[in-house]
Amino acid sequence: MSAPKKLFVKTYGCQMNVYDSERMAEALGSEGYEQVATAEEADMILLNTCHIREKAAEKVYSELGRFRPLREAKPDLKIGVAGCVAQAEGEEIMRRQPMVDLVVGPQTYHRLPAMARAVEAGEKALDTDFPEEDKFLHLPKARKPRRGPTAFLTVQEGCDKFCAFCVVPYTRGAEVSRPVERLLTEARELVDRGVREITLLGQNVNAYHGQGPDGEWGLARLIRAMAEIDGLDRIRFTTSHPNDMEDDLIAAHGDCAKLMPYLHLPVQSGSDRVLKAMNRKHNAAEYVALIARIRAARPDLLLSGDFIVGFPGETEEEFQATLDLVEAVGYGQAYSFKYSARPGTPAAEKPPVPDEVASERLQRLQALLGRQQRAAQDAMVGREVRVLFEKPGREAGQLIGKSDYLHAVHADAPADLIGQIATVRIVESRANSLKGELVTQSVSA
Ligand code: 5AD
Ligand code: SF4
Repeated sequence: MSAPKKLFVKTYGCQMNVYDSERMAEALGSEGYEQVATAEEADMILLNTCHIREKAAEKVYSELGRFRPLREAKPDLKIGVAGCVAQAEGEEIMRRQPMVDLVVGPQTYHRLPAMARAVEAGEKALDTDFPEEDKFLHLPKARKPRRGPTAFLTVQEGCDKFCAFCVVPYTRGAEVSRPVERLLTEARELVDRGVREITLLGQNVNAYHGQGPDGEWGLARLIRAMAEIDGLDRIRFTTSHPNDMEDDLIAAHGDCAKLMPYLHLPVQSGSDRVLKAMNRKHNAAEYVALIARIRAARPDLLLSGDFIVGFPGETEEEFQATLDLVEAVGYGQAYSFKYSARPGTPAAEKPPVPDEVASERLQRLQALLGRQQRAAQDAMVGREVRVLFEKPGREAGQLIGKSDYLHAVHADAPADLIGQIATVRIVESRANSLKGELVTQSVSA
């Protein structure tokens, strides 16, 4: 048998991409590729790209440029581009960067083994179709090593919402939900391999509407069915749109013990005019009322969100409305971005807010969100929380894991608690983590 070929995957962007990278590495595993930690060792380099951030395509081109010396030293080195930039740019990538052998969009990863064979034979391979079949079905059954205690499971992909600033509906295509049975089987397999926490992923995950044994299921039903799996202790999901937060999903936050008290529910802006211009299809008051309903179901919920400042036409007053909303709602964690135009989206046609203005607004918003995040973290001091330990910490004898609220917690604990849920008393709130002391080990949820 020939020596394993070496694959280096570099992942950008969201958790969806992290999940996809794992699946791509598994798919190439069937072609004899083993993952390595550096580009220098690799026979194939795969960049799994993200289009959501500013100048994403330019960054990919400059990253590719950095591989030139490697390619010159090793002419057989194969270079591939995957993910949303691959989808958006297609053949243009190969035209601009002839070093690239393979371009594969997020919908066609299952064709990677055949594509790898083609590039090994010296051909170029490009596939950015949106096929009808479920790409997940075609991925090979990989060798199943034991894995860490947390995992992502993609349940839905794509988005039909067409927010005026966003490329996802164009790069990831229309919403597609994976069937219930398949997801339950995959979840059970993950649990058999040591996973205790699953995060259900989708660009618009709460719009999930997969085929179940008795018709279509929504996300809440899927979560409740997963909660029946013995050995699975925690369920999370991300990312959601406020308009798909249906009653049974809200109720699940109150009555499904395995559904964690953390919710990422982006609002983007607090101004009704801006929300309308963003095509978000809800106003600020509706969002605030929705949060109140979710908190009525789960009072200790830690809320997270996404915000965009400097959307075209945003006035100081409208930005102030965003600050007011943040004050009114209270976030334990949040992501905030300066608007940046994505070619092909409706908002990109509009005149931008001056960059200095947008930067200054972003600073003010981040200061406020930072204070709220701190406060939420500080409020944990003195409390006992459940922590799923994931790995050794930086200092000897220490383990790191996540609380139910997704705070990173480190504590002195024996290594055999990795993969276990333990009760930890929080004694200190640090910059980006909490320090805790082990109270007891409690194996079940
Ligand atoms: N400019 C700035 N931020 C954006 N996001 C999406 N598109 C843009 C854009 N054009 C942010 C949104 C979204 C998150 C994933 O990225 O806040 O919720
Ligand atoms: Fe993009 Fe999310 Fe809006 Fe869909 S709901 S268009 S993924 S921002």
